[in-house]
Amino acid sequence: MIRKLRALVLLGLAALAAGCSDQALPEADGRGGDIAAGRVIFERKCARCHNVNGDGETVVAGRFPYANLIDGVWRSDGTAESIEKQIRRGRDPMPSFERKLTDEQIRQTVEYVRELTGARKEAAR
Ligand code: HEC
Repeated sequence: MIRKLRALVLLGLAALAAGCSDQALPEADGRGGDIAAGRVIFERKCARCHNVNGDGETVVAGRFPYANLIDGVWRSDGTAESIEKQIRRGRDPMPSFERKLTDEQIRQTVEYVRELTGARKEAAR
């Protein structure tokens, strides 16, 4: 009896774990969706240089002070326009993403960078 119960519990746990690993890509539905989508893009395309938290403490970008995106210090002015410009054009050693991301993806990434910068509420999410 107890054995059967244990097997059932284990089965349940396995089903739960399978459900959790099934990560769907977030959809762009309003601002929250944009930020979620931007986060996925940031983690895939930007975090290797800017770090997941945006502080730029990586092997590639660590010696460039402006690679830190969350210290409130900008080479440009930190507006959405200038962030978008940097993403489109790049700036050595940062590559241009003009042809690697769609306009929609660039917009979402800008939203996320601004969220990272302003809020730093990582823990709350
Ligand atoms: C190969 C490494 C690399 C990758 C990949 C990269 N960056 Fe950068 N990025 C840098 C470096 C280094 C700087 C600082 C350059 C400088 O001194 O202007 C920078 C600067 C920036 C700036 C300008 C900051 C300011 O002070 O004005 C923004 C915004 C930015 N990156 C966003 C992104 C986003 C968004 C992505 C992903 C789509 C990305 N970067 C991908 C290396 C990278």
